[in-house]
Amino acid sequence: MGWKTLDQMELAGKKVLTKVDLNVPIIGNKISDNTRIKKIIPTLSHIIKNGGLPILVSHFGRPNGIRDPNYSFARISSEIEELIGIPLIFAADCVGTAAELAVSSQKFGGVVLLENTRFHEGEIKNAISFAKSLAELADVYCNDAFSCAHRAHASTEAIAHLIPNCAGKLMEQELIALENTLTKPQRPLVAIVGGSKVSTKIDLLNNLIHKVDTLVVGGGMANTFLLAQGFYIGASLAEHALKDSALNILNSAEKAGCSILLPTDVVVANELNVNVESFVVPVNECPEDTMILDVGPQTVERIKESLLNTETLVWNGPLGAFEIKPFDRATNDLANFVSKLSNNNKLVSIAGGGDTLAALKNAEASNGFSYLSTAGGAFLEWMEGKKLPGITALNKKNLYRKNT
Ligand code: 3PG
Repeated sequence: MGWKTLDQMELAGKKVLTKVDLNVPIIGNKISDNTRIKKIIPTLSHIIKNGGLPILVSHFGRPNGIRDPNYSFARISSEIEELIGIPLIFAADCVGTAAELAVSSQKFGGVVLLENTRFHEGEIKNAISFAKSLAELADVYCNDAFSCAHRAHASTEAIAHLIPNCAGKLMEQELIALENTLTKPQRPLVAIVGGSKVSTKIDLLNNLIHKVDTLVVGGGMANTFLLAQGFYIGASLAEHALKDSALNILNSAEKAGCSILLPTDVVVANELNVNVESFVVPVNECPEDTMILDVGPQTVERIKESLLNTETLVWNGPLGAFEIKPFDRATNDLANFVSKLSNNNKLVSIAGGGDTLAALKNAEASNGFSYLSTAGGAFLEWMEGKKLPGITALNKKNLYRKNT
């Protein structure tokens, strides 16, 4: 652990620039999923309890350096205040006079929310000048946004070099949970990887075959593997150009001693629509003009059987087209099985990624999992074995360059 925790920081009387991920979905001016906001409360409470003033810094959407009111925190600042239950002052800019005024007018015991960092080009350019303007506002930098740690942006990377830094409570929790999963897991270790495309997950699959004992491949990406193995897959979604990559992954897995579990039966239909007629068929009997939309019950049983002898599971991506019923059946069934095993302390299960969390919610199985990561892209890059700039920058050995 190369980073400092919030507990190791002197916070009394300090202004704490707290990087959080308030990039939440909204419908109208209402937050439609407030999970990320609720998860930062322990960090804010800790800073306040220890006499510090949290200054919240976050991005919201991708406004590309332009001040676009659609991406302004002004739309949701009152709702954020209500959710965190702490008096909040909103600053109409994240740097300069508006930010300075908001910080100086807020009392200890409250929080300041800075406007969207991505209204400034310097943010995604990781510009040191922009990071310095942020650093001017505070004495300490606390990063509580694991879900943004894959971005080398000014508020996640450059800033950490300028003032004393530490990881927030949520960040600490995420890093420990992830470390226990892939870095020093209890074995056997199984990964379930689903989702629609192999192309977006090639790095992930190539990393996992060297880390896990069994890799379960589901979702649309399994079709590309079936196609590569010579199965007829009808009108199913598949990436024909990636057949060789799929075969290479299978060969490398064999050499690495990782067994790959692919569907042996599948659910097919003529179209992807709610409650259309569907059939379960063995993988070698996919009827003409149908598409594979879920893995079949026999495949789910095989996965369950392998999980009975498993200590640790990491899950990213649904097994089928879960947004459309009944193609959520395999994901629901397996998610509930994992949830029960985890609740009975028979399995450590960790899941992450936007689609995955939505699929587990749809299955009503979220509560049973040992840990759910709030991160999407960052979770994936971490599973790919990549170094995350936001974490690397928190290293204790970083030089402070406030005056350079
Ligand atoms: C996320 O929602 O995954 C994070 O907030 C990162 O957002 P980004 O992909 O726009 O950088």
